[in-house]
Order: sequence, then structure tokens, then C-alpha cells
Amino acid sequence: ADQVTILAIETSCDETSAAVVENGTNILSNVISSQIDLHKIYGGVVPEIASRKHIEKINGVIEEALEMANKALDDIDVIAVTYGPGLVGALLVGVASAKAMAYALNKPLIGVHHIEGHISANFIEHKDLKPPFICLVVSGGHSHLVIVKDYGEFEIIGKTRDDAAGEAFDKVSRAIGLGYPGGPKIDKLAKEGNKKAIDFPKAYLEEGSYDFSFSGLKSAVLNYINQCKMKDEKINNADLAASFQESVVEVLVNKTIKAAKDYNMKNIALAGGVAANSALREKMNKACEENEMKLHYPSLVYCTDNAAMIGVAAYYDYIKGVRHGYDLNAVPNLKL
Ligand code: KG4
Ligand code: ZN
Repeated sequence: ADQVTILAIETSCDETSAAVVENGTNILSNVISSQIDLHKIYGGVVPEIASRKHIEKINGVIEEALEMANKALDDIDVIAVTYGPGLVGALLVGVASAKAMAYALNKPLIGVHHIEGHISANFIEHKDLKPPFICLVVSGGHSHLVIVKDYGEFEIIGKTRDDAAGEAFDKVSRAIGLGYPGGPKIDKLAKEGNKKAIDFPKAYLEEGSYDFSFSGLKSAVLNYINQCKMKDEKINNADLAASFQESVVEVLVNKTIKAAKDYNMKNIALAGGVAANSALREKMNKACEENEMKLHYPSLVYCTDNAAMIGVAAYYDYIKGVRHGYDLNAVPNLKL
């Protein structure tokens, strides 16, 4: 059929989300129920709580997505769901719901890779963006530099050797008492600080490597905080946030631009929760202008976890003929 309406489900971490996506990138609805308030008292996502909350929310979220899209179940052509990577118990809620619906409606089922979803979020608002391009995927669980060769075809040229970029934001945030999730809070506070105030390390690793490492930076920040406490010196949290953020962002930008040059790519995209970071967007924009490259990134709502991006990725899989059986399972460490 040339008209394809996809119902997409995303439950890989702490948002329960469902979306209705038409003909690839037309988002009819994108309902996101966030559990952040539940998890923040623990300083991070508690997997068991996440699974239970997904079970409570999933049916209502799906109903709302259909209602907002003004669609009945009969109008749905394909059921799509994130099946990895992520928290196994959380993923299973989405996968079980999707399988049940696909079976009951007798419609094709498509399992989607969460990172492929994040990358595909760029197609929603940039109809001109087409593979090949370079994508920097930076989220709470991943930091990848990816060549998007074609729809659904990727080559990972660099990845983090330890912490993900978003994880570093979250840990530093916790250390200065800002809480979870740290990214948006550090981003905001950094605007009031001096990014040159503290000289934190920038991990470039070996010459020519596209890999990342953020655990050394995280340790340097924690050491700095401890030293200040021992010396009874007052910490300027805004300066700390700005300097830490600068160390992350500088490396992300320089490695991405280098990769784009090396692979002769004129189009760069950002994806994942950290793509919401204002300093990253600004610095990357500037670097792209200087190098005559074009930068794309999704709106904030499509950067962090959402089902719309899963529906978009599923569409390109669908037209390629990808289908999954009812034996589809959650794969917590699914590879791209
Ligand atoms: O993509 P996402 O919603 O979930 C994962 O798949 O991991 O990303 C969440 C991560 C968190 O670590 C959060 O702190 C970070 O994205 N994040 C940010 C910003 N907004 C969210 N990091 C830096 N700056 C932001 N503005
Ligand atoms: Zn994500």
C-alpha cells in the first residue's frame, strides 16, 4: 500500500511512549508519559520501578496516541516497537503489547533498534536529509559516531570506551546536587558560568581515533569537588558546569568534524538526549559553517526518548520488507 499508518511503541527506559506515524515522517501523534518524577528521588532510573510503571501506563498511552491521531485500530497497517537496547524488563512491556496487538489485528510486526530510532528522528523535520550522512548519537546509554550509509544501514566508526556522554552529565549533576536527569540542569546552569574557569581534561585518545572516553573527565570533576571541600574552598557550580560541558562538547564537535572530513560528508546530524544540549548545538553549528557542512538536529521532543522516532525508523524497515515474528524478544544489548 502507498498509504502506511504505523503505530509505534517505545518503552526502553523511563518513558512510556506511543505514536501514530503516517507515510514515514508525518507524525500524527506522539504521546510520552515520563517517569522522571518517580526515579529522581533515587538519583537515576530504577529498572524494577520502570517496568511496573510501563505496565500501568502502556494501554492508556496507546489509546491516547490513537485518539490524538484520530485513528481507530482498523486504520493501523503496521505495529512497531523498540526491542533493544535498553532495560530488559522495560523493553518487554512494549514488546509484549506490540506482539499482542499485531496478533489480534493480524498486522505486520516490526522490531526497531532504539538507536536507529534516534537517528531517524532527524528525518521528521528535515525532509531534505537523505543518506549518506554522519550522525553523532549521544544519549544516556550511548555515544556513537555513525556513518548512515542508507536507511537502516549503519557503520559505527567510533564509540565510547567507558561512560556515555549523557551518563557523564548525569553523574556530574548528581555530584553537585542538581539531581536527575542531569543534562538539562547542567545545560541551564552552564549558561551562567565561565567555560574557561576550570581546565578539565579533554579525552582525544590516540591520534586518529573516533572513540570517546568520558570517565576520566567525570573523575577529574569529582576530584576537583573533593579537593575544594578539603581546602574549604567554595565551588562555583555554574563555572564547574560550564567547564565540564565545554570538555564534553569540544571533543564531540572536533571528532565529528574530523570524521566528516575524512569520510567526505557534507551533512551532519545529531541524535539522542544529549543532542538537546544548547552548547553542543551552538558549537557544532559554528564548526559546520566554518567547514561548509550542513548540520541537522531534531526538536527537543524528538531528541529524548519518544515513539515517533521508532515509527519513522520502522517505516524505512517496512518498505525494505523487514518483518518480525511473534517470537520477537527484548534484546537488552542489541547491536546496531
Ligand atoms: O536519549 P535519551 O532520552 O535516553 C537514552 O536513550 O539514554 O537520553 C537521555 C540523556 C540523559 O543522560 C540526559 O541527562 C541527557 O540525555 N540530556 C542532556 C540534555 N537533555 C537530556 N544532556 C545534555 N544537555 C541537555 N540539554
Ligand atoms: Zn534513547
